[in-house]
Amino acid sequence: MSVGVSRGGARRVFAHDWGDMARVRDAASWDAGQYARDSRFVSDLGEPLIELLAPAAGERILDLGCGDGALSAKLAARGCSVVGIDSSASMAAAARARGLDCRVADAAALPFRAEFDGVFSNAALHWILAPDTVLAAVARALKPGGRFVGEFGGAGNVSAIVRALRAALAGGGADFDELSPWYFPSPEEYRGRLERVGFRVTAIDLFARPTPLPGDISAWLKIFAAPFIEAPDGGADAMYDELRERLRPELWDGEKWTVDYVRLRFAAVLDAA
Ligand code: BEZ
Repeated sequence: MSVGVSRGGARRVFAHDWGDMARVRDAASWDAGQYARDSRFVSDLGEPLIELLAPAAGERILDLGCGDGALSAKLAARGCSVVGIDSSASMAAAARARGLDCRVADAAALPFRAEFDGVFSNAALHWILAPDTVLAAVARALKPGGRFVGEFGGAGNVSAIVRALRAALAGGGADFDELSPWYFPSPEEYRGRLERVGFRVTAIDLFARPTPLPGDISAWLKIFAAPFIEAPDGGADAMYDELRERLRPELWDGEKWTVDYVRLRFAAVLDAA
């Protein structure tokens, strides 16, 4: 699921020793068909979050980074009036094809004012490098007393993949930290940010969720690590192959690939000021 990523819209170009020029591309270039084929587990694993939100029929809910609307549809099936936003036109179109109200919008510049009973976000907030801006926008969108429930990558998330990327990039003189579009905070850090914009945190938890993939790690990398890799003339395939081999000792057990997810899950209530 994708949301606006704050890299100033810039496309950054760097050289590395994988042989080609590669560039960090806009993380919001998603393909809904590819996502549905290789990443359906992301929305499947987000279902417990709906229970944490405990939506009541008639409530107005904003799904932040709704992707293709799989979870928005479940909220709508419970009688909620759901608005989804996603930065990807492809994802938003897939959500609208389900009959949902889904708009292409930047999570950091939400146009809503005190109109939602709840804001829900699964697997999206780790794409936003301006967390305080987004949290302030969420607080503005909620009615006083409204709930914000979310889950995303927390501290230590995909650490084997980060190590592999860091090593591959460093080999070419590029710096992972400078290029990464990912934000994986600790519970302490995120609690502080929530509280500073007026939320009372009712639950926040960091937990490991090793997740077996339905297919090859290359499919995961091509969707989620694509912002690091773009090269002409098949050069990207060589990069994905290199990453795959770097990851094999840690993530392949002889039968399947398992991604080392760590999730940060929270629930918070906006102070009725
Ligand atoms: C995640 O869902 O944890 C994730 C998604 C994309 C990149 C890295 C991590």
